[in-house]
Amino acid sequence: MYIKDQVKKLTPYKPGKTVDDVKKELGLSEIIKLASNENPFGSSQKVGEALTAHAMNYAIYPDGGGSVLRGALADFYQLPGNQFILGNGSDEIIQIISRAMLDSSKNTVMAAPTFPQYKHNAVIEGAEVIEIPLINGRHNLDEMAQAVNEDTAVVWVCSPNNPTGISISDHDLKQFLNKIPQDVVVVLDEAYFEYVTADDYYNALELIQDYPNLIVTRTFSKAYGLAGFRVGYGIAQPELIQALEPVREPFNTNSLAHLAAASAMKDQQFIQYCREQNREGIEKFEQFCTEHGLSYFPSQGNFILVHFNRDADEMFQALMQKGIIARSGQALGYPKSLRITIGTGEQVDKTLESIREIITQ
Ligand SMILES: Cc1ncc(COP(=O)(O)O)c(C=O)c1O
Repeated sequence: MYIKDQVKKLTPYKPGKTVDDVKKELGLSEIIKLASNENPFGSSQKVGEALTAHAMNYAIYPDGGGSVLRGALADFYQLPGNQFILGNGSDEIIQIISRAMLDSSKNTVMAAPTFPQYKHNAVIEGAEVIEIPLINGRHNLDEMAQAVNEDTAVVWVCSPNNPTGISISDHDLKQFLNKIPQDVVVVLDEAYFEYVTADDYYNALELIQDYPNLIVTRTFSKAYGLAGFRVGYGIAQPELIQALEPVREPFNTNSLAHLAAASAMKDQQFIQYCREQNREGIEKFEQFCTEHGLSYFPSQGNFILVHFNRDADEMFQALMQKGIIARSGQALGYPKSLRITIGTGEQVDKTLESIREIITQ
């Protein structure tokens, strides 16, 4: 069998333990999973209502153009429907961009550490990966712009960045975009967009009008609480969307996902509630860290990277013994930190109490 050399060197995605696995293993009845930046409040009630109200014929393929969801997005953003591409999660948008634009004659520029799927997909396509280290959790946008050369096809910018949570300011992003040649595509991954409260945050939709080489990716997996449905999307000028469409599989997003996502968009009160609760949770974490002499990155996402100054895997295990599954920084480029999803108020309190017990014992 012929397998691409670069694929042989990759390891498959390793899913974390399920809640049931951990319950069984540790004999615990309650587990709080704060490892995958899912929404602790679930999703809007409107989703459940819509799914029960609409009987579907499951023998029929989904609407391949996703016209209902595309229409809902177009209404919501006040943009034409041909400025959106739908994906089976924004993961798939990353894959589509990589498949369409990267090969062994090209390179691609990204921060490090950042969301690992940019690199993963670029490696599969055989492209050279140029990684520019973060400075204090922030993209080094000057260095990233400088790294772009005549072979660069795609630059990835993650804001707020996973795993650090730091977002980019309007001023910095515009300065950066002005330095990138028009034939190099910039992907602005805004998976955590709905959680952002920073005053200096840019307006990505306005930027799309000014930069034809910019594509913004967003998702229903985070604030909308629909990770199980796998639905994300890209927004760009029609020409860029059109260039990517042939790579998209005909029925890549499914009927239930279309309905769930379109219904979820109708409940912006729920999104606002989640954003506010999340901000309160982050503030509790920040205060706790300050009181206990722990450093952290100021996050605009629904997670926080806390530096514990001790082996991340040990800290992860200690927290798991108390029924809390966080994400060890070992695999994220921060071997002494944990990335912790912001839970409900009660979950945040329980998490902070557990951390207090571990670090003061
Ligand atoms: C920065 C970032 N981008 C993209 C994704 C992919 O999300 P999904 O494929 O569920 O839309 C994630 C998920 O964790 C993420 O953190």
